[in-house]
Amino acid sequence: MKKRLIMALLMAGFLLTGATVYAAPFGNPDDVAYAETLWNVLVKFKLAGRGMINSVPYTGQDPHGAILESLDRNITVNGHTGAVIVKRNYGGKDVSKAAVANNPAKYLMAVTVMFKRERGYDPENKDWFWAKFKPDGSLDANPKGMKLAGRVAKGMPQGCIACHKAAQGGDYVFGHDRFVDK
Ligand code: HEC
Repeated sequence: MKKRLIMALLMAGFLLTGATVYAAPFGNPDDVAYAETLWNVLVKFKLAGRGMINSVPYTGQDPHGAILESLDRNITVNGHTGAVIVKRNYGGKDVSKAAVANNPAKYLMAVTVMFKRERGYDPENKDWFWAKFKPDGSLDANPKGMKLAGRVAKGMPQGCIACHKAAQGGDYVFGHDRFVDK
């Protein structure tokens, strides 16, 4: 009898833990798998990885890095076509626009990405999928170890969504308003 009770408690605990993990708005196994596919598409279109297309680096602002590069286009991920914005974040000793232009790989710190997902993915936040990759395509994580992919960090006072909410046009994009109401 006691054994059964313990088993039941263990099961309930397992289910609850599972539910909690999956209830997080980002960093779930699904988000991580999606980010992996997204990265592969970015590499295919030379937006990331070795052989990536370069543009003219510009002076950035916190928290993205001293020098930035930004590229966007439409891509298809798992059958869904949407706009993607790739921001390359450069930093390190002696970083400058010229230094980055001459040797991007040396100064690349992170690749932050916004991808417009299917309608209804995150209607309160314009359906953006957020991801922060390291230069090798693996995902960065927050101090709690949650991978930065998905609705980052929905409902929290800091993070991609909380900060990008302030962007003009209500589209969560600072650089332009080309994706307003799309
Ligand atoms: C504290 C505020 C803040 C946070 C947090 C933040 N960003 Fe940004 N982000 C900005 C600003 C400001 C810009 C415009 C910077 C520029 O291009 O000079 C920007 C630009 C971008 C862009 C280019 C599109 C645009 O809006 O112009 C992408 C993509 C991006 N951020 C992704 C992310 C991701 C992914 C995260 C979370 C991992 C994140 N950002 C967290 C402030 C923030």
